[in-house]
Amino acid sequence: MKQRPWINVIATEPEEIINTIDKCPSGAIRYSIPEGSKIKENVSNGVGNINFENTNLSVVKIKVNANGPLLIEGPTIIIDFEGKPLKEGSKMALCRCGLSGNRHFCDGAHSKQSWKPDQIDK
Ligand code: FES
Repeated sequence: MKQRPWINVIATEPEEIINTIDKCPSGAIRYSIPEGSKIKENVSNGVGNINFENTNLSVVKIKVNANGPLLIEGPTIIIDFEGKPLKEGSKMALCRCGLSGNRHFCDGAHSKQSWKPDQIDK
């Protein structure tokens, strides 16, 4: 979490990076495939692709992550208090601890605290 950039694109094969990004629970990291790439389409059309659209997702799932953010999965648009779209996507993590430097989205700050959001919820 502390290392920047988060991803070293020359450390491993692109397919491994794509696979890791597809598993990102927050959707904070995404990828696109340059035209003419040799990466197979079945590898590069996962949920982490910036053009990913899953038409089978008719229900938005919101999971309360233990001592962490609300994980949203499904086509979602976050609207700000003025009614303007803040973020659109299929995966994102919303901060519920109030400590994020990137509100309303989780930036991992919850993991640095001695208290945990779930201790407050009870
Ligand atoms: S829940 Fe992750 S920063 Fe608040």
